[in-house]
Amino acid sequence: MLTDSAKALIATFPLGFVATVTAEGRPAVSPKGTFLVLDDATIGFGNIRSPGTLANVGRTPHVEVNFIDQWKRKGLRVRGAARIAAKGSGEFAAQIGLWQAKWGDLAGRITDLVLIDVEAASEMTTPPYDDGITEEAMIAAYKSKFAEIYP
Ligand SMILES: Cc1cc2nc3c(=O)[nH]c(=O)nc-3n(C[C@H](O)[C@H](O)[C@H](O)COP(=O)(O)O)c2cc1C
Repeated sequence: MLTDSAKALIATFPLGFVATVTAEGRPAVSPKGTFLVLDDATIGFGNIRSPGTLANVGRTPHVEVNFIDQWKRKGLRVRGAARIAAKGSGEFAAQIGLWQAKWGDLAGRITDLVLIDVEAASEMTTPPYDDGITEEAMIAAYKSKFAEIYP
């Protein structure tokens, strides 16, 4: 379900923009920087202070998440069904060690793991790739742009 390159993208750029559905049926998008790949068909993030996302997922499990490599300008779109493993549950206890290993003390603030069973995943590229730009040229261009912002 998740290819090796998809898994590598999430591991390198674990900031996912999570789209959920509000009680009014509207979209809500919010960033989560604690994403991990659990296996070929499961990803998850830690809830630290995301009451809106948690409430939305509790009502409607359908989510979509975008991950972007801002240097290559390539990304991943993941669709799936989310479930909540709350602190105190067996699943939380079984998995939280993965977050502790990657985020150390921050993992102590995680009160729930939001686990997403992946239903579909597709890779995305920025349109200049259609015109033949190479990854190397794209990375060089964005290194330069980001250096202008934060010299
Ligand atoms: C870059 C970035 C990464 C974040 N990562 C997380 C995260 O992993 N877990 C979390 O609970 N909140 C995280 N947050 C904070 C939430 O996105 C923020 O509290 C937001 O207002 C929650 O909105 P929601 O309740 O609608 O999800 C992050 C925020 C930013 C800007």
